Amino acid sequence: MPVIQARSAGFCYGVRRAVELAEKTAQESGSCVMLGSIIHNANVVARLERLGARQVDSPDAVRPGDTVIIRSHGETRQVLERLEAMGARCVNATCPNVLHIQHIVSRAGQAGRMPLVIGEPHHPEVMGAASWWDGTLVFPGPEELERWLLEDPARRDLPLTAVAQTTCVRSIWESSKKILKKLCTNAELFDTICDATHRRQSEAAEIASRVDVMVVVGDRKSANTKHLTEICRELCPRVYQIEGAEELTPDLFIGCSLAGLTAGASTPAGIIKEVYTTMSEEIKNNEIKEESFEELLD
Ligand code: F3S
Repeated sequence: MPVIQARSAGFCYGVRRAVELAEKTAQESGSCVMLGSIIHNANVVARLERLGARQVDSPDAVRPGDTVIIRSHGETRQVLERLEAMGARCVNATCPNVLHIQHIVSRAGQAGRMPLVIGEPHHPEVMGAASWWDGTLVFPGPEELERWLLEDPARRDLPLTAVAQTTCVRSIWESSKKILKKLCTNAELFDTICDATHRRQSEAAEIASRVDVMVVVGDRKSANTKHLTEICRELCPRVYQIEGAEELTPDLFIGCSLAGLTAGASTPAGIIKEVYTTMSEEIKNNEIKEESFEELLD
């Protein structure tokens, strides 16, 4: 078998649930609005649009009475309040893992603690989580967190509550945790990296460490796909991040006898299958070419 495919590749349950809710809502109501990208995949969005789900990028485009699907990443509290005030009906497809983080942030703030989120500041999930308590701080990684703590010694004694973006790279969260434990006197830590992400990242690392080439499939805007690529690059010398099989060319697999394949949480099974088939064919063709070349030399 020249291609090892990660069992965890593709839709996580949060994304599957959001897509199913959008399909069901569009079919039942005849029309609805998807606020932001419900999934980072143009084909799936196009299919939902054909069913009557219109994608908009801002709440300004929502009209009173619209049925609005809230994506799996969640929304900011301000946006949800605004939608409610204008009389929109919200179908909340926020992943339960993301709701859990929002809840921790809100509860910590109410208890007089300062919430910290370790994650990408401009990612919708992180912006949404931070919005549940004014004054929540977001740090992309351990360096920024350590710098902030060392800038003012008084910060080390603050009551801090730290959470991780659900798709945070595990090593970033572990290093951030170490800093908080070493420097702070009153920090509580919640490991909120979701199980689906954890499984996907560990499996990608395990496969990347034993193959010649690793292929990661997912939308270029998808944060969890980008994280998978970063993890694989630390363990495998040749890693290609692609959006679909059409990006695969024979030269990518020259000299490769074993390849690995994984995919981000928004990548549909059909695309993964196509990539798997193309990779297997390319590797087989290269092997035939190499064998014929050796025969010519004999
Ligand atoms: Fe939810 Fe984790 Fe997927 S947070 S949306 S199950 S990546």
